[in-house]
Amino acid sequence: MATQVVLPETITRAGADEMQERIAAAKAALGKRLVVLGHHYQRDEVIRHADFTGDSFKLAQAAATRPEAEFIVFCGVHFMAESADILSADHQKVILPDLNAGCTMADMAETDQVEDCWEQVTSEIGEDILPVTYMNSTAGLKAFVGRHGGAVCTSSNARAVLDWAFRQKPRVLFFPDQHLGRNTGYRMGIPLPAMPVWDPYEPVGGLEGRDLPAARIILWKGHCSVHNRFTPDMVDRRRAQIPGVQVIVHPECRFEVAQKSDAIGSTEGIIKTVQASPAGTKWAVGTELNLVTRLARECAPERQVVSLDDCFCVCSTMFRIDPPHLLWVLENLAEGRVVNQVKVPPRTTREARIALDRMLEIR
Ligand code: 13P
Ligand code: SF4
Repeated sequence: MATQVVLPETITRAGADEMQERIAAAKAALGKRLVVLGHHYQRDEVIRHADFTGDSFKLAQAAATRPEAEFIVFCGVHFMAESADILSADHQKVILPDLNAGCTMADMAETDQVEDCWEQVTSEIGEDILPVTYMNSTAGLKAFVGRHGGAVCTSSNARAVLDWAFRQKPRVLFFPDQHLGRNTGYRMGIPLPAMPVWDPYEPVGGLEGRDLPAARIILWKGHCSVHNRFTPDMVDRRRAQIPGVQVIVHPECRFEVAQKSDAIGSTEGIIKTVQASPAGTKWAVGTELNLVTRLARECAPERQVVSLDDCFCVCSTMFRIDPPHLLWVLENLAEGRVVNQVKVPPRTTREARIALDRMLEIR
């Protein structure tokens, strides 16, 4: 992966207002040649410049709706920019404002680890298994899934993708997020013992002999460092503090937290559920803080919205996309220099596209 250059002082020394004005001016100069996509976890000073906002599923679709745009500036993290590159046309260039905006969850499953797991699992139980990867994974893993007949899923379609997968094969290998896999599988009626966890750092994934043949979903030992911080105690505390509060959490939260909550919802699902709730409703939301703060502002004063916890639950890699980096890429593009392009190699693109297209076709 290319490294992020240090930004010049002409950018870093600009004041906050000047930066906002220069971002708007560079965007205007680029006109229809540019589309800016912003994930819901982005900070206010960045997301206000987005032409499309959404969760990773919606943004993957949005990238395909602007074929006339030469540049897709993705205010999100690296795996999202890779997916946009895979799904966009050849003439389009995808730009990530800070190349250090990775994802700790995506880093928890490397392609060779998953290939090694696949080899061991299939030699033990045969080919009656399909791989499903969460969108939050590298392009290399999506390509692996494409090669083996599986599909990508996001938090908003995990159930539909797993239903589809079980129509093909009796078992699924699901990576990298164990919590999304477990929360979704359990709601489909799969008991917890039928969802063992594969630890890539243990021999035979740390599993016992009988675990594999009895498994319906083999979960990967990965998690999101933001959502993993929510605990069942926090649910109890909010219920005690705010009588009548309803708790809604992202499916990347731990099983015990999801079980104690009133609802689970993808990023987009949380926003829709809270916005559609009657006036007077109170919500404690277990997801990234930028989203919760914005939702609280938009819903006030009719509805009360608070974070599930007072912890500073921001995604530190999403937070790397800041006004200086956005300004730097936009001014470079406006002056004819393409910086921070995320380009997936052709073979990986072809194979990963199969897995992404399968996801987009599943209803
Ligand atoms: P979604 O956008 O699919 O809800 O995923 C949440 C997330 O963690 C993004 O990195
Ligand atoms: Fe990765 Fe979690 Fe941040 Fe999403 S919120 S980018 S899964 S670390």
